[in-house]
Amino acid sequence: MTTSRQATIRPRERDALLQGLRSGVVPRMGQQHVQVGRVHEVKALMSDINRINDGGSGSRFIIGDYGSGKTFFLHVVRSIALQQKLVTAHADLSPDRRLHATGGQARSLYSELMRNMATRAKPEGGAMSSVVERFISLALTESRDTGAPVEGIIRRGLSELSELTGGYDFAEVIAKYWQGHDTGNEQLKSDAVRWLRGEFSTRTDARAALGVRTIIDDSNFYDQLKLLARFVRLAGFGGILICLDEMVNLYKLANSQARNSNYEQILRILNDSTQGSAAGLGFIFGGTPDFLLDPRRGLYSYAALQSRLEENSYAVDGLVDYSGPVLRLANLTPEDFYVLLTKLRHVQAAGDESAYLISDDGIAEYMNHCAQRIGDAYFRTPRNTIKGFLDLLAVLEQNPDRSWEGLVTSVNLERESNPDLAPLDTATEQSPAPARPNEFLTDLRPADDRRSTNDTDDELSAFRL
Ligand SMILES: Nc1ncnc2c1ncn2[C@@H]1O[C@H](COP(=O)(O)OP(=O)(O)O)[C@@H](O)[C@H]1O
Ligand SMILES: [Mg+2]
Repeated sequence: MTTSRQATIRPRERDALLQGLRSGVVPRMGQQHVQVGRVHEVKALMSDINRINDGGSGSRFIIGDYGSGKTFFLHVVRSIALQQKLVTAHADLSPDRRLHATGGQARSLYSELMRNMATRAKPEGGAMSSVVERFISLALTESRDTGAPVEGIIRRGLSELSELTGGYDFAEVIAKYWQGHDTGNEQLKSDAVRWLRGEFSTRTDARAALGVRTIIDDSNFYDQLKLLARFVRLAGFGGILICLDEMVNLYKLANSQARNSNYEQILRILNDSTQGSAAGLGFIFGGTPDFLLDPRRGLYSYAALQSRLEENSYAVDGLVDYSGPVLRLANLTPEDFYVLLTKLRHVQAAGDESAYLISDDGIAEYMNHCAQRIGDAYFRTPRNTIKGFLDLLAVLEQNPDRSWEGLVTSVNLERESNPDLAPLDTATEQSPAPARPNEFLTDLRPADDRRSTNDTDDELSAFRL
């Protein structure tokens, strides 16, 4: 049944995977050992990655219900991008992190992205200095091979950046890094990296440290990403893939002007990627159907976006189209979930079939147990049922005298609560709405009914999903 029988699983990967999934966190590495389904979606994103590597661009919206696997998919794509020699940067949007803002929230998103900037050699983040180092070492190699002075080679590379908006200072900062490198001035190097990571908060400080007049702030968020994409290409990478999750936070913005400014930013990004004018820059956005479709608050509330993102009207009745900017993640099926459990068993046994702690029958019984306890959510939103299964395996591992029979039905399973149903965090715009606990599975009204209780932007106390 499993396709991963032959795969070897490194102990570090095994532990990271199991620990992550048991605590409800989507794994950042080793997803291939547990991944099920999504073949077409992965293929579609592979072609984006290739295009970015060739100096092109691309944007995709990964849309799926809560728990359908958006975050997991984003991390799968990120891992592939790293393998394919792209740089990646990922971040979750939040009330304090947005694409457009005037109170520092866009800069905050930028620095979060930069903290998580990764390369194949540094998959866990913090890769900015190593990317800059790589640029320098390429110049050093060229200088050694050609006898031309390093400084000139660096300046020539950077002149390409100077043509772009904000490129002059960006190039200056890289030149300062080189100067620090050349003269053994570690402070100058680290100031340059701090600038690139968007960590200078005042122009005065930046000027004192690096002699540049600008800093990365809300107003140049996207221009800086374009510059960065060019720069990583100069450093020998194919480009950069920006992965933004929890886009629903834009839909949650109470202030319609703030929301629209963010949607306008998305439109710029989308236009640039369709026209291929952002070289080596790709975006992948994860969001719920409401974020996309809601006519009052979602991307569809912005007419220009609606027309670009509208689904192919021929893709109905089981026909699919993976070429558009929007990829709808279907819910996992019971069959997918079965395969997923066999993979978890395989990972838990570190790839050794003879060490499996539960038989195929046991897995089937566990699925029955889940279905009885929480209905079909067990495979559609599998976070808790994955966790429950791994808890079961952990008990079996530590109590070798016990077998799965008799234990399976004692696994305690809870329904997942959808955090999007919690009250909106509106601290930046409005006073917070009163707390209102809710349960994901209890609201089975159709989406339209659910929205009808929320009719004006400002009536947050009435906001219900
Ligand atoms: N294709 C998949 N293969 C294996 N596990 C998956 C897959 N998609 C999702 N999962 C698992 O399902 C759970 C929910 O996925 P998640 O990405 O957190 O959903 P979402 O971000 O859409 O709310 C996580 O535990 C994740 O590891
Ligand atoms: Mg998620």
